[in-house]
Formats: sequence, C-alpha cells, structure tokens
Amino acid sequence: MQMLNAADAGAEHMLAADGYIFVFPENLAAISGGMKSFFDRCYYPCLGALNGRPYVMIICAGSDGRNAVAQAERIATGWRLRQILPSVIVCTHAQTQEAILAPKTIDSADLIAAEEMGEQIAVGLQMGVY
Ligand SMILES: Cc1cc2nc3c(=O)[nH]c(=O)nc-3n(C[C@H](O)[C@H](O)[C@H](O)COP(=O)(O)O)c2cc1C
Repeated sequence: MQMLNAADAGAEHMLAADGYIFVFPENLAAISGGMKSFFDRCYYPCLGALNGRPYVMIICAGSDGRNAVAQAERIATGWRLRQILPSVIVCTHAQTQEAILAPKTIDSADLIAAEEMGEQIAVGLQMGVY
C-alpha cells in the first residue's frame, strides 16, 4: 500500500495501483483545491486505463460534504471505477476559522469505519474479489 498526498500523486501512481482510497476535505461546497488539482492532472492521462478498479472515498467536512462526494463520485464514474462501499462523510463540526484551524479529534466510530473500509478493499484485492 502507498499513501500519497494529492500534491505528490500523479497519473503514474493511479495507473500502477490496483485500487484506491480517496480521502479529502470539502471546501466551499466542493472538492478541496489540492484534490481537485490531482483529479484535473490525472483525469485524461488515466481515462480508459482504470476501468473496473475498486475505490472507496472518505470526505472530511465541517457541516455538509455532500457536494464534494457528488463531484468526486462523478469523476470516479467517468473513470469507470467500481465503488465497493458507499462514500463516508466525516463531520468535524468545524464551522468557524478558529475551529477549522484547531487540531481535530476524529470520533472513534469514524476511525473504525475508515479502518474497515481500508480492510475491505485490501482483503478483496488480495483475494482477487475485485
Ligand atoms: C475555505 C474552506 C471552506 C470550507 N467549506 C466547507 C463547506 O463548504 N462544507 C463543509 O462541510 N465544510 C467546509 N469547510 C470545513 C472543512 O471541511 C473542515 O474544516 C474539515 O474538518 C476539513 O478537514 P481537515 O480538518 O482535515 O482540514 C471549509 C473549510 C475551509 C478552510
């Protein structure tokens, strides 16, 4: 498994991977800029080469997250990726500049859900299910 920041990830990483866990925040009711830049850079170089590969998605949001999910799922559909679990929105309830800048504690239920998503895609790939 390889964990990459969006800024460091490119089409070569997408093409080399068997599956994907996309994790990013919602900003201004959209995919955050850094993650959007990653999708913009990779979309056409990867189009047609990722068909059927599995993915899951976790979106961190201060209050909503649904638009970022919809945008990213649309990109994944364009790539013909296979969504193996519903996307998860982790709400931090950070809605002021102070709260957004402060260190955040993610609920244990969200951490467990994230762990289970990772496990499911990893085990599925290992067993050749996907
Ligand atoms: C510029 C900016 C815009 C944001 N817009 C939204 C938004 O539209 N919807 C939302 O739910 N949260 C929004 N947030 C809150 C972030 O999603 C929240 O801080 C979340 O915890 C981000 O993940 P992080 O803590 O890993 O940075 C925004 C934050 C910033 C900095």
